[in-house]
Amino acid sequence: MKIGNIVFNTYPLFLAPLEDITDLPFRLICKKQGADLMYTEFISSEGLIRDARKSVIKLELVDEERPIGIQIFGHDTNSMIRATEIAEQANPDLIDINFGCPVRKVTNKGAGAAMLQDIPKMIEITKAVVHATKLPVTVKTRLGWDEKSKNIVEVAEQLQDTGIAALTIHGRTRAQLYKGIADWTLIGEVKNNPRISIPIIGNGDISSPEMALEMRNNYGVDGLMIGRAAVGYPWIFNEIRQYFKDGSILPPPDVEERVDVCKQHLAHSVEYKDERRGMFEMRKYYGNYFKGFKNFKPYKMKLMQTEDVDRVMEILEEIEDYYKIERLND
Ligand SMILES: Cc1cc2nc3c(=O)[nH]c(=O)nc-3n(C[C@H](O)[C@H](O)[C@H](O)COP(=O)(O)O)c2cc1C
Repeated sequence: MKIGNIVFNTYPLFLAPLEDITDLPFRLICKKQGADLMYTEFISSEGLIRDARKSVIKLELVDEERPIGIQIFGHDTNSMIRATEIAEQANPDLIDINFGCPVRKVTNKGAGAAMLQDIPKMIEITKAVVHATKLPVTVKTRLGWDEKSKNIVEVAEQLQDTGIAALTIHGRTRAQLYKGIADWTLIGEVKNNPRISIPIIGNGDISSPEMALEMRNNYGVDGLMIGRAAVGYPWIFNEIRQYFKDGSILPPPDVEERVDVCKQHLAHSVEYKDERRGMFEMRKYYGNYFKGFKNFKPYKMKLMQTEDVDRVMEILEEIEDYYKIERLND
């Protein structure tokens, strides 16, 4: 499978863009665990143009994580052109346009999923972005605005005609936000439309290797994108890859592995942000790294309250020792 000149030799697994989560430190962890293509968090085109620190900082990429896409959003065509030019200077492998974000602060301004209510504008912006860069441009969107307007089959054809290199579809409408269960039927319909020749990436609710295989087989998509299930559990990429290869389920990571990856994540976080911010931002991942561990709460409290990186590293080692002994006692 190819997106522009990016070639995937095995069935590709993508890390979904997640605001405040898929920053550089987290992406480096997912890359090591088998993510084939990753994206930055969405970046406001207006923020990039104003040179707002919060937006510009999200452009930071390193070669180790390639191929990497920068995702931008906005409602104004000229701003999106300018933002594309700025994003291109950061040297990503592709530019992705977000037409799927359902949150009010974005849709109220006519951006993200709001564009599903104004297809001519969506197409105008996509065309303009495709023309503004020599990089491949991809789009990520949803099934439609609401239950009554699931227009993705027709929208996908129009998007393809703008020259985009791939399309990712999250199987929910804007009105659903993140509720209910993702419906992959229309994703399959887009993929099986004989008019569609660009790769179609399916997204929504994949949380296990078995489910990944079911979606791949039932809907025929060219790749799968995984978001929430990878947060604090980056092993999901390799687990899916192994399952696709020979049908085997890898054993879940033991406490040593979890502590090791969590420490690497913390180290990246401190390296790429300042020490205080790096440590503070790690707090949202600890619960997931040790999900299902009995009596974990006191350790979590300690991790959340400690303000010294060396001490956090020590607590992680204490966690490793404690659960290793627990395992022996089992
Ligand atoms: C906390 C959070 C932040 C998100 N941020 C973005 C974003 O910046 N850009 C985007 O295209 N989608 C964003 N999404 C949507 C995800 O990329 C993905 O489409 C959705 O979570 C469904 O996939 P999943 O079930 O595998 O998580 C976000 C979702 C969540 C839960």
